[in-house]
Amino acid sequence: MPPAPDLVERLERHGQTELLDHWDKLDLATQRSFEAELRAIDFHLVDQLKETLVFADPAIDSIDSVRPVEVSRLPRTDRERVAHRLASEVGEAILAEGQAAVVMVAGGQGTRLGFNGPKGTYPIGPVSASSLFQIHAEKVLALSRRYGKTIPLYVMTSPENHAETELFFESNNRFGLSHLRLFVQGRMPAVDRETGKILLDGPGRVAMSPDGHGGTLTALAQPGVDGGLSCLEEMKELGVQTLFYFQVDNPMVRIADPTFLGLHREASAEVSFKVVEKLKPDEKVGVVVEVDGRPQVIEYSDLPPALAELREPEGSLQLWAGSIAIHIFERSFIERVVQQSQLPFHRAFKKVPYLNQDGQRIEPTEPNAVKFERFIFDALPLAERYAVVETDRILEFEPLKNATGADSPASVRQRMSDLFAGWLEAAGARVVRRSDGTVPFGIEISPLFALDGAELRSKLPAGLVVEQPLHLR
Ligand code: UTP
Repeated sequence: MPPAPDLVERLERHGQTELLDHWDKLDLATQRSFEAELRAIDFHLVDQLKETLVFADPAIDSIDSVRPVEVSRLPRTDRERVAHRLASEVGEAILAEGQAAVVMVAGGQGTRLGFNGPKGTYPIGPVSASSLFQIHAEKVLALSRRYGKTIPLYVMTSPENHAETELFFESNNRFGLSHLRLFVQGRMPAVDRETGKILLDGPGRVAMSPDGHGGTLTALAQPGVDGGLSCLEEMKELGVQTLFYFQVDNPMVRIADPTFLGLHREASAEVSFKVVEKLKPDEKVGVVVEVDGRPQVIEYSDLPPALAELREPEGSLQLWAGSIAIHIFERSFIERVVQQSQLPFHRAFKKVPYLNQDGQRIEPTEPNAVKFERFIFDALPLAERYAVVETDRILEFEPLKNATGADSPASVRQRMSDLFAGWLEAAGARVVRRSDGTVPFGIEISPLFALDGAELRSKLPAGLVVEQPLHLR
């Protein structure tokens, strides 16, 4: 069957006719699926991105007016501790009244980790080898039990990992969650970095990749299966006003942390960011700053060293508020953003295998392609009111990114064990530690046993000594 004339005409208009080079060799079923894939591509958008991000360098914001952002710091005085306790009560009321939902994004490709399967299925538990998904799901379940109200969990997948993720949750009985919904993010085609031509991944298959975690906002607004309610519409029906957002790769995250929720609500914020203190100018973390009076995140790769190195008189970094991808969004804010504007795309140069004109599959050794992604933190400047809240990275941030070294399974398990050791000690147990303070064996506490140190205290037998691997569940 020849390609549909209107499709050919569209590809001609956008200079992408090479996509049809191998059309005649495809069987009928592949021709149909390929046609559907091509029709789903927004060629106008690809043209725009070619002009702004492939054939030109992205415009760099003026950095003359970059200022530190105002942050609600970790409490240091009794007065601040009381203020945080009051905020926590506000957050607890939000949870108890069913006004909060949890959104976990898990659509990424996990290329650095190199694990065969969705990253959320990675067995990270230091003793039990429980998956990232299980740890997160059990936190949500434990929170629902604590506050006596179902807290819905929404998990963003990508077309590439959706089926496997769904199967994983189903075969684990959804980890006991009563309201779990998976939703799929959008995709963007990868283009050749020299020519801007869209690449083929194989015969009758475009080289597509997820559109970045910034795709969350649009994906939340997409209709459900068979035209059902979008996630946002469903949340509205459930009475959810506030969304707690985090990324699947950080098992330390305090999901729906009541103090964070409370500080967000007290500030009448539309968007809130958790940050940690950046310790070195070259640390690879984006910083939350104000540019011309508006909040925004500058990625570490875009922060000029002259700014990164600015210090306060007492020596600390001036731009220290490192974003750790833990956010709160008001539902009404997301509804407004998806109607009024779209988050901008960024480019990433990547090695993308492709089919050449002779039909051979080429595995590039150098980045040959541009992928387009949106970043969730670009929503921040669109907020009318926002809050930035400091947390302690030791307690809340160790993402699984790499196969070895920093942010790897070994470092994540160590940090989890160290965290749980701290809870045990605070609850009165004695834990054997190395001279550098780290724990020499795995310790794991299931969220269903204790969600935090305070809960553990109420359950721990007196006089416990921990000198070998321990799993409390
Ligand atoms: P990263 O940017 O670290 O990507 O995503 P990644 O897929 O985990 O790993 P690499 O870069 O390929 O090695 C941070 C978080 O955002 C989610 C990821 O699943 C992860 O939780 N994410 C990223 C999405 O949900 N969709 C995307 O398109 C990109």
